[in-house]
Amino acid sequence: TKEPVVLGIESSCDETGVGIVRGTQLLANAVSSSMDEHVRFGGVIPEIAARAHLEAFVPTLQQALDTAELTLDDIDAIAVTSGPGLAGALMVGVSAAKALALATGKPLYGINHLVAHVGVGVLEGTVLPPTFGALLVSGGHTEILKVTSLTNDVHLLGSTIDDAAGEAYDKVARLLGLGYPGGPAIDKAAKDGDRKAFRFPRGLSLPKFVGSAENPGKHRNNFSFSGLKTAVARCVEHFEAAGEPIPVADIAASFQEAVVDVITAKAVRAMKENNLTTVLLGGGVAANTRLRELLAARCASAGIALVVPPFSLCTDNGGMVAGLGAQLVADGVEPSGLDFATDSSQP
Ligand code: KG4
Ligand code: ZN
Repeated sequence: TKEPVVLGIESSCDETGVGIVRGTQLLANAVSSSMDEHVRFGGVIPEIAARAHLEAFVPTLQQALDTAELTLDDIDAIAVTSGPGLAGALMVGVSAAKALALATGKPLYGINHLVAHVGVGVLEGTVLPPTFGALLVSGGHTEILKVTSLTNDVHLLGSTIDDAAGEAYDKVARLLGLGYPGGPAIDKAAKDGDRKAFRFPRGLSLPKFVGSAENPGKHRNNFSFSGLKTAVARCVEHFEAAGEPIPVADIAASFQEAVVDVITAKAVRAMKENNLTTVLLGGGVAANTRLRELLAARCASAGIALVVPPFSLCTDNGGMVAGLGAQLVADGVEPSGLDFATDSSQP
């Protein structure tokens, strides 16, 4: 049988992404980011993101088609992120996708952004077992997932109860005067610091939250980063009040260690307790040097295979949406039609 050619559209945050796949083969993955326009505000401004998608969509689509050396006639189906994400930003991508579907008569699939992040694992020849785990860490999400079927069975094992991990990086970077986005800045500053200089809290790690394997606590697999952020703020204030220079590198390294320690420990434990032998890492924080290092070490000692897709597929992109769309087509799933809404808080 002929493998479906699927066009995927992503616009849930600041990246306008258009990807094209043939089955599990990635043909193009064009991305335009409006991050430069958000930097001076220290965070993504929804209105600016939505307007940037409107400007970037057609050029990004054209770039993807050119790269794949295809025209819209060659596309078998269109997939688009319908949520979760910024409402106005999502609406631009979904409107564009509906217009394309209407004009070309191709079937359209509305796609869950988080499932697309996980579905990326099958692209480019990565072999995943039928059931696998995933750890998603970005500016918008921090989740541990169990994937039994990408098309109809993705189970949430745990998630953050407050800030996402990337959000914590961004907020702490601001406290330390390191600029935005904070993840790469802290990652870099931490390289010159001592990660044992300060012992910052590992959120939801106390026995009352964690419980035991037989009698798990409510937050066994959940994360919290707001207490950590407050602890860093107190630490900075302490040095300020004493009139001493702030040990930025040591604080960055110690903060990073607290985040990465709790994420990797909880993820690996969740894999073991759910008999998952493979874990896929995704999201923008997957770029973090220390996260990759510690996760690789802990997976290795637990006998768990770690799959880390290329970074261009870890951050938001259209290729992951196209990849999941191709699996829906292959599995014979009914298209979504042209009247579905966006859902900014889609579970
Ligand atoms: O996946 P992504 O591009 O967008 C979404 O949030 O969906 O992730 C962006 C997040 C930002 O919070 C950024 O600070 C963080 O990923 N990030 C990092 C690193 N590179 C990006 N966090 C830690 N270390 C990094 N090297
Ligand atoms: Zn994302």
